[in-house]
Amino acid sequence: MHHFDRIDGALHAERVPLGALAGAAGTPAYVYSTATLTRHYGLLREAVDSHREALGDALIAFAVKANSNLSVLATLARLGCGADTVSEGEIRRALAAGIPGDRIIFSGVGKTDAELAFAIEAGVRQINVESGAELDRLITVAASKGSAPAIAIRVNPKIGAGGHAKITTGGATDKFGVPVEEAIDLYARASGSPHLTPIGLACHIGSQITSLEPMEAAFRALREVVLTLRANGHSVSRLDLGGGLGVPYHGQTDTPSIADYAAMCAGVLDGLEVEAAFEPGRLLAANAGLLLSRVIQVNQRADGRRFLVLDAGMNDLMRPALYDAFHDLVPVRPREGELLAYDLVGPICESTDIFARDRMLPPLEAGDLVAFMSAGAYGAVLASEYNSRPLVSEVLVDGDRWAVVRSRPSYEDMWAREPRADWL
Ligand code: LLP
Repeated sequence: MHHFDRIDGALHAERVPLGALAGAAGTPAYVYSTATLTRHYGLLREAVDSHREALGDALIAFAVKANSNLSVLATLARLGCGADTVSEGEIRRALAAGIPGDRIIFSGVGKTDAELAFAIEAGVRQINVESGAELDRLITVAASKGSAPAIAIRVNPKIGAGGHAKITTGGATDKFGVPVEEAIDLYARASGSPHLTPIGLACHIGSQITSLEPMEAAFRALREVVLTLRANGHSVSRLDLGGGLGVPYHGQTDTPSIADYAAMCAGVLDGLEVEAAFEPGRLLAANAGLLLSRVIQVNQRADGRRFLVLDAGMNDLMRPALYDAFHDLVPVRPREGELLAYDLVGPICESTDIFARDRMLPPLEAGDLVAFMSAGAYGAVLASEYNSRPLVSEVLVDGDRWAVVRSRPSYEDMWAREPRADWL
């Protein structure tokens, strides 16, 4: 569900016509809807709160990697949302957007000593430790700060899941977390250190997961670990269930509902008396954003193939090139006429700069505006300036107002970041 609808035939972001927005802000541009972000957060909040007995006073920590725009984060911060972060930069963004340290989780497979020190200073809620080597370094860093940060051990339950092999994280050969036996060992080691406060476990098995079963199996495995740890005399008060719930990119309705997801989590955690945390990224942001682009031209081949050449390239939206991802493309103001098959391509000099083949669309002409839907998660964050194309801009809409929340750099801005070597 989102707030990009047609009014008098023209696609709007809430009450802002995308045509006017493109004229004022230029293309390509990501456009985000405040109403959709708010709605998605609210739905999850409500679902989780309806199972307060099993899930406790659960933290919803938006996975900043999905969309790290400061205004998007500030929008979520105002709703009470926390942040799941994986770098000092993401912690700084979350803090700058108004998310307090005690609502920030610090995850990630390779945190440097400097980042660990920064996280301790920022007073993050917990650091999710992913290996024995990291645990040892964290003890040293925490000792040097005279502190004892709260930590969770990230368990790799050997259950991978997700929409594509390249976005699976919980499989036995994936680099994330530690196997169950090692988690039990690390928890004991952490308990033995005066410089750590082990409070629980974390797990995240993949992204764009469209069935609750693998998640449930992983959470059941976590539950067993909690029981073992408690039998060993440890206290365990929090379970971080990660993110990963899939969203309907194809407009399909077969993705699990938020209510069913929360009920499943509550069912697994029932009676465990832990406080849950959730790290949704895509679920909150994907359908809250679109990528607005203009048709440069239509290249019609003699053999019938028709390339729709857009001013957005794979440098602006990487997901199709990286994961063969599907993003619906819709004309902002569809023309009359029979549907035609188009190959959707960008202007980049690479064969991977193709978004889709044979999409059936109303006739399109140079200058027309189109929108890639469901692009609010892992869209702008993955963009680059490949082919010296200025970094894509971002716009936030709220009702009938809008603001450029990341401006497109000028060429001068780009060159300014590359000081000429003094011998040249
Ligand atoms: N927590 C952890 C520890 C994660 O690694 C991730 C995502 C999340 C939470 C959020 O997962 P989500 O709820 O968004 O599924 N670039 C890829 C997705 C990579 C996901 C990486 N980790 C894509 O565009 O599909």
